[in-house]
Amino acid sequence: MENKNTFYITTPIYYPSGNWHIGTCYTTVVCDAIARFYRMTGREVFFLTGTDEHGQKIQAKAKEKGVTPKEFVDAIVSDLKEIWKMLDISYDRFIRTTDPDHIKTVQYVFKRLYENGDIYKSRYEGWYCTECESFFTEIQLKDGKCPDCGREVHMEKEESYFLRLSKYADRILDLYKNNPDFLQPKSRMNEMINNFIKPGLQDLCVSRTSVKWGIPVEFDPDHTVYVWIDALSNYISALGYKNGNQELFDKFWPCDLHMTGKEIIRFHAIIWPAILMALDLPLPKRVYGHGWLLIGGDKLSKSKQDKISTELTDPKEIVVRYGKDALRYFLLREIPFGSDGAYSNEAFLNRINSDLSNDLGNLVSRTTAMIYQNFDGVLPAPCQKEPVDQELICLAEGLLEAVTRDIEEINVPKALSDIFKVVGRANKYIDETTPWVLAKEPDKKGRLAAVLYNLAETIRICATMLLPFIPSSAEKILAYLGITEKVGFDTIKGFGGLNSGITIEKAQPIFPRIDVKKEIKEIDEMMIKRHKEAQKTLQSADKNAEKSANKPVIDHPEEITIDDFFKTELRVALVTACEKVEKSDKLLKIQLSLGDETRQVVSGIAKYYSPEELVGKKVVLVANLKTAKLRGVESQGMILCGECGDTVKLIEPDSSLKEGSKIR
Ligand code: MSP
Repeated sequence: MENKNTFYITTPIYYPSGNWHIGTCYTTVVCDAIARFYRMTGREVFFLTGTDEHGQKIQAKAKEKGVTPKEFVDAIVSDLKEIWKMLDISYDRFIRTTDPDHIKTVQYVFKRLYENGDIYKSRYEGWYCTECESFFTEIQLKDGKCPDCGREVHMEKEESYFLRLSKYADRILDLYKNNPDFLQPKSRMNEMINNFIKPGLQDLCVSRTSVKWGIPVEFDPDHTVYVWIDALSNYISALGYKNGNQELFDKFWPCDLHMTGKEIIRFHAIIWPAILMALDLPLPKRVYGHGWLLIGGDKLSKSKQDKISTELTDPKEIVVRYGKDALRYFLLREIPFGSDGAYSNEAFLNRINSDLSNDLGNLVSRTTAMIYQNFDGVLPAPCQKEPVDQELICLAEGLLEAVTRDIEEINVPKALSDIFKVVGRANKYIDETTPWVLAKEPDKKGRLAAVLYNLAETIRICATMLLPFIPSSAEKILAYLGITEKVGFDTIKGFGGLNSGITIEKAQPIFPRIDVKKEIKEIDEMMIKRHKEAQKTLQSADKNAEKSANKPVIDHPEEITIDDFFKTELRVALVTACEKVEKSDKLLKIQLSLGDETRQVVSGIAKYYSPEELVGKKVVLVANLKTAKLRGVESQGMILCGECGDTVKLIEPDSSLKEGSKIR
């Protein structure tokens, strides 16, 4: 099965949340760089990405919007594709779990596992996290909350199919033991063994009857295939496994690298191998769990961007302001691979300035300008060699090997740091050889020629090595050296490949230098202005809403009797879905479950909580408040919060209190 001439790499498929931010781009940009790298080594690469479109959340959101789930996701998916285009993501297929060939594979997988006894029907009673769309057993919970996202969970019961995960525990442990590179970084393997396998693998619920937006189980259509079998199967359905044409599957499976964020490693390192074992298919060669891009210490989410409002986190906005390669470079270079990394406007701008504008940009402009001035733009032959050349030549010659090792270890930041070591060495070589002094002495022309040739050749090697990481800028640099055709790494095996006599163009600044202080001031002002404008719009909306709700404004609460107080019906409610009210920065539309009753409430807490944060939380609801309309949206009650300085915090009842419980 092992085939060294192919390379199959995947990103996780994205939930169409619409909250696309620079953190979202991280996995895909990293995979793109690796895919491009292997293409340049001559391997045939298949790079897969896509979207994970089924499930309860999408069903609920589409319903609220009055559109079909497919219509709802279509717009979000095309927005994501636009971001990938802006970032030069070179995927070979963008799979959607709503694609007919994917559906066919999933139905086959489910049926096959059922027929083999790996899936069985039973009743499920378990703790459910709406946000993660996952069931957990009591022991899996962390302090009574979801072990993956830390949110509230609630008890759900339903008839379901189950995957016999427990049966595969020993084989998964053997897999880890016999293939120490299967799961990386190494620490993730211990996490899987100690947190999930050793405490006992529980069989996994793999179908739902309450969620209709999913792939129907072919032999029992009341059930839909529940998220993870659907989602994980994308890695084989995209290659045509059991859905028609298996040519790609035969060529590319097993996968060389599944790249995933650390929070979903469990699904890729335990559940996915178990499914593949049950299907009797070869296992992926490697699964890599990368860290998160953090802002202000948090995994990015749109609502948190509102709080830290001066950081630019919209990938499209960053690309428009600074270029696609600036963002690609930052993501690839700044985040220590395998660990979390931090974004701030300042860190971003400084990184771009120092590496791209100063080190790389200056090297290219200085070298091409000197060839232009001293040799009329014609690359001279390297006639007079000197010992000082050797260190630069050696480093440049060894670069391909060093970077190949880094990429094999999936250490992308190290690959870039190795390339920039050579860029830095070339700049130092300019200082050492002082070509501007040589240019003034006619008898040093030969030496000047050698220095400039060595620099141009080093630039060619570095730019070729940079093609996978910052493709459009690296192509521009190569074009200044007269190289306009597609090149592979075979063109940089050895120093001296650049032909003297070719015409060199004088380079324009590829990454113009940014005045970081001035730029940050400008961004701050722009973001604050945006924030104020949004607040103004909201305030006038709220005033109108208050008027129409006919609410008296109470400055000093008067005393009330206990009977007055008991007129208020307070109940425990579970947030089942939530979204922002359109054109309002303050209001959230929240769907609540009171056990056997549901409610919709509009609450002005969007500044303090994201919709995702609220889903799964238990809250206190004023259940007998007169229905009001806020921004045209009906609100059937009010959620209680406490004031906390400039912010507000939800009053959260004890997790053991059931939905619908009365509060007295
Ligand atoms: N749909 C599942 C994956 C199913 S794969 C069979 C999912 N989707 S997701 O949209 O929530 O996440 C997609 C990827 O984006 C994950 O790898 C996740 O880790 C990554 N990221 C989302 N926010 C991120 C950061 N702030 N930083 C780094 N990666 C982030 O999970």
